[in-house]
Amino acid sequence: MDSEQAVSLEARVDDLLSRMTMTEKIGQMSQLNWDSTGLHQAVRAGRVGSVLNLVDVQETNHLQKLAMEESRLGIPLLMGRDVIHGFKTVFPIPLGQAASWNPGVLAEGARIAALEAASAGINWTFAPMIDITRDPRWGRIAESLGEDPYLCKTLATAAVRGYQGTDLAAPGAIAACAKHFAGYGASESGRDYNTVNLPEIELRNVYLPPFEAAADAGVATFMTSFSELNGVPASADTFLLKQVLRKEWGFRGMVVSDWSSIPQMTTHGFTSGDRDAAFAAANAGVDMEMASSTYAAHLQSLVDEGRIPESDIDAMVARILQLKLRLGLFDNPYTDPADFPAIANPAHLEAARRAAVQSCVLLKNDHRLLPLSAEQPGAIAVIGPLADEAREQLGTWVFDGDPQYTQTGLQGLRTLLGERATIRFSKGLEHSRSKSHEGFADAVKAARDSDVVILFAGEEAILSGEAHCRADIGLPGHQEALIDEIAATGKPIVLVVMAGRPLTLESVMPKVDAILYAWHPGTMGGPAIADLLFGNEVPSGKLPVTLPRMVGQIPIYYARKNTGKPANPETFVHMDEIPVNTPQTSTGMTAMHLDAGFTPLFPFGYGLSYSEFKYGNISTSAAAIGPGDSIRISAEISNDGAFTAEEVVQLYIRDLVGNVTRPVRELKGFKRIRLKPGQCATVSFDIHTDDLAFYNRDMKFAAEPGLFHAWVGGDSNAVLRTEFSIAGQL
Ligand code: BGC
Repeated sequence: MDSEQAVSLEARVDDLLSRMTMTEKIGQMSQLNWDSTGLHQAVRAGRVGSVLNLVDVQETNHLQKLAMEESRLGIPLLMGRDVIHGFKTVFPIPLGQAASWNPGVLAEGARIAALEAASAGINWTFAPMIDITRDPRWGRIAESLGEDPYLCKTLATAAVRGYQGTDLAAPGAIAACAKHFAGYGASESGRDYNTVNLPEIELRNVYLPPFEAAADAGVATFMTSFSELNGVPASADTFLLKQVLRKEWGFRGMVVSDWSSIPQMTTHGFTSGDRDAAFAAANAGVDMEMASSTYAAHLQSLVDEGRIPESDIDAMVARILQLKLRLGLFDNPYTDPADFPAIANPAHLEAARRAAVQSCVLLKNDHRLLPLSAEQPGAIAVIGPLADEAREQLGTWVFDGDPQYTQTGLQGLRTLLGERATIRFSKGLEHSRSKSHEGFADAVKAARDSDVVILFAGEEAILSGEAHCRADIGLPGHQEALIDEIAATGKPIVLVVMAGRPLTLESVMPKVDAILYAWHPGTMGGPAIADLLFGNEVPSGKLPVTLPRMVGQIPIYYARKNTGKPANPETFVHMDEIPVNTPQTSTGMTAMHLDAGFTPLFPFGYGLSYSEFKYGNISTSAAAIGPGDSIRISAEISNDGAFTAEEVVQLYIRDLVGNVTRPVRELKGFKRIRLKPGQCATVSFDIHTDDLAFYNRDMKFAAEPGLFHAWVGGDSNAVLRTEFSIAGQL
């Protein structure tokens, strides 16, 4: 927006505000669900600013018409909907998309989601969810972009641009929403809606950066979290909303509550009732109330009593009106689906396939079992409760995705291999939680009669997402027993995991030959998986989150602190090997678990390829830099394998001494490159001292002089290291 546009926008808002009654202003601040009683009348009366969850384009047009033509001031409606990983064309769950480490995947997914949703009259989505989480028990990890602030903020920026484009008024652009502000992903014990306690320093260094990046990227709206943060429910948190969001970051967009999160503050034990809650939220600057009606019921009297200044209400309403103007809704409130590309058209489906390809992470590939031969595939047993489940593979929180477009793993394999392969399909288990062994014999027979087994296991969609947390994150039901029986046939097994979170797979590892972690891969998961298993595509996904061995290790994440007694592989002894009557000091007295050790099953950033990448010749452009300078860190990567393949080259940095202790490594850059066999490339990262800044003990954001280690490699355990310094004195 140039300054002239901004002035005219402001003038239009001022003009509207000057003509609005207090009831109409409060109306703008209220968002109602589409099935609310009396919705039409409320729209006519100017008592609704936004409608939620309506996807019938005739009805959205009808409501817009009521707002435009029958309400006194003719103010159009914001039409909100969760379109978190696709509308009709469903992309991999956000955590899966994050495994692509490709901002292009996020941007394209968001753009297509926006186009399809806009064709139904939706102009605002509640995405991206950018809560950092380090707890795979939390069901909403599926909606997240993983454990790391740098990866999350890079991908979040891409998603915001994908939804919003460069001009919100352009057809197919919709407003995005950075949610849930803030700290929600640190819910105690990974239980949804639970208490969050985060020291401010941790909040600022880990949980807030993606939100700041979204604000910088121009995200139109923010959503407050259901949870409390350090004793204050987020919908009333003046520190978060006023100090950080408005004052420090200068965010001028709109803030919406989460669904009924305002009245829930009374349940939290923070407010005494709806009136008190409405006051607390409005006082903190929550511009719009989602679903509940405490604003509608109480703001007027709070203003009358002078508890909320009318100027505050005006400022909040102005932000809502500004968004409507920026979206061009006053001029174009109606939607004609014919103006948009068809939903689930071939280009959208192909983009979803590409996204799924890059989202899958190859965790294991013994004896180079994969890729399987597409020319001579032989007989293949396709087994498992998730091999042919059109709905389950779409993943969580999919309200509009249509399973009729879905191509399952089984279908993908059949289409790819055609007559060349004999495919024997046997589910083994009816669904992922089943404990009935009735289908085992048939599955074992299919395996015996085949050359190779492709086993689709994991979680149904309903086991992750909001309010779907698990304390045991192993394979549910008797899937492992099924794997045991199939493994006993001695046939090579490729395990394809479809899940909404990291699962604990340590005991499964030795029983299978290859593991492809496909998350919930969306509409086009089947063709993507088939292309990967048979070598039309080469795996390139990398874990956006650490995979624990067992639940008791949680939280386990790569950017941990060193501690004063770091775990030592040389002294680690598993508890089963400790002789009876051994003295206390025998295990080296270090930070580890006697049963699980201290390493995850797979580290953050990990993912195999069919090819082989070698890293070497790491260098820096200088041995030392001054504050405000940049340094270039470079390394050579060669493709020593036999496949043209993509690799995500990752840069990690450690600040060795800090005013507060610093993580043992932090991701500071990544690049996806494509190399032919034998090809070599130099990959460089330019790091400014600002990129090394952090909040210190005094809550000051600055880089500190001193020594830094830098690693370049294919995951967070990268060994190729160099170092440099920032000169100066503390
Ligand atoms: C979720 C939000 C979502 C909202 C609207 C809530 O339950 O926490 O993430 O946007 O519902 O559907």
